[in-house]
Amino acid sequence: MNILILGSGGREHAFAWKIKQSPKCSNLFVAPGNAGTQSIATNLAIAPTNFKEVEKSLLTHKIDLLVVGPEDPLVQGIVNYFRAKKEFDNLIIIGPDKAGAELEGSKDFSKAFMNKYKIPTAKSETFTAMQYDDALAYIQNHAYPLVLKADGLAAGKGVIIAQNFDEAELALQDILIDKKFKEAGNKVLIEDFLEGIELSVFVLSDGKNYKILPEAKDYKRIGEKDTGLNTGGMGAISPVPFAQHTFITKVEEQVVKPTIEGLRNEGIDYKGFLFIGLMNIDESPYVIEYNVRMGDPETQVVLPRIDSDLVALFEATGHQTLHDYTLKINPATAATVVAVAGGYPGSYNKGDVISGLNLTDESAIIFQAGTQSNEGNVITNGGRVLAVTALANSIPEAKNLAYKRLESIHWNNIYYRKDISDDLLPYLD
Ligand code: AMP
Ligand code: GLY
Repeated sequence: MNILILGSGGREHAFAWKIKQSPKCSNLFVAPGNAGTQSIATNLAIAPTNFKEVEKSLLTHKIDLLVVGPEDPLVQGIVNYFRAKKEFDNLIIIGPDKAGAELEGSKDFSKAFMNKYKIPTAKSETFTAMQYDDALAYIQNHAYPLVLKADGLAAGKGVIIAQNFDEAELALQDILIDKKFKEAGNKVLIEDFLEGIELSVFVLSDGKNYKILPEAKDYKRIGEKDTGLNTGGMGAISPVPFAQHTFITKVEEQVVKPTIEGLRNEGIDYKGFLFIGLMNIDESPYVIEYNVRMGDPETQVVLPRIDSDLVALFEATGHQTLHDYTLKINPATAATVVAVAGGYPGSYNKGDVISGLNLTDESAIIFQAGTQSNEGNVITNGGRVLAVTALANSIPEAKNLAYKRLESIHWNNIYYRKDISDDLLPYLD
């Protein structure tokens, strides 16, 4: 099969790495990709949201399978765009249609969906700018902390946890009046604060059936001990030691099954990944959010734990035969640590030369993200530059292997958290 992956992050390098191992893969393309994908596939200089250009390359390269990495093209309707054209009848697309992508594109839509299908989640109310006074009254009479969320896509920045009324009022003003998140803030959700431990569960759906993939825990803040600004993700661990089999079974019964049934009931064509952000509260799952794609850097720990052929898995998704597919999961622990350009998630430098990538060292895998090839060098080209993943029999071993490999990678102002997985040690027996 000829395969095109859309996106340019570590997630897409991990997809390319795993797809490349499949005997079913003939030619592999990534648009736009990074220096890492360029070393194992052909990069195409196309933005994933430029559907016309994507269409041209699908035809030129006779693509059979399109894997959509990020959410933007999905929310903008890339699946509907190609489904409306006869010449793409046989194209398998991994990603939901526009209606399905609303689970991530609109927090108001996903909250209404969860309430309709009785999926456990925090109680919340939605307000528009016209209802500002009602919103103010609501936050005046509410217990704290309280969570305020811009309705639309805000690159992970649209969630504010207010500790008191003053902070909540400021957030309301930022979102509804000052339009800090532009039209993503046309509505605001005001949500009860959930106290528990977070993890993410990943599901692949073919529209009728589903497979639950390995779960993961990620590390969102820039600073050690979860301090400082939110980032796209600074590391991840899979499996999650506090998510025992009984908890995952509850997630399947109370969240995954009603979600898949609800999507079908709504007439939504959901062939793709569903990333469920969960809070574990005294062993009961509550949904914090849905994403309609894989996570980054969660993909960098989930895919190395899948022993099955990913292309065959995607074919089964396209043909709606996931129920016949046996997913083989590696029981080992995967740890990934993300190295960023100093200053991220604020301003940072680009163009620094990276060294230490090409050692013949099989103890870890390097998934590149914000990188670019330049006159024989690999240079930094983004905030999150790369992730180093190691697999081992335990969290401490996997973590140590990843950190050991990172010690030989250098560029000006490299930064990474040194405490990835440390919070999980109390859960190890
Ligand atoms: P989201 O973009 O919805 O995933 O929210 C970003 C982060 O905010 C989550 O990963 C949680 O850490 C936190 N968060 C969101 N909603 C809640 C909530 N209701 N209670 C506690 N924390 C929350
Ligand atoms: N790591 C979080 C995300 O991909 O949204």
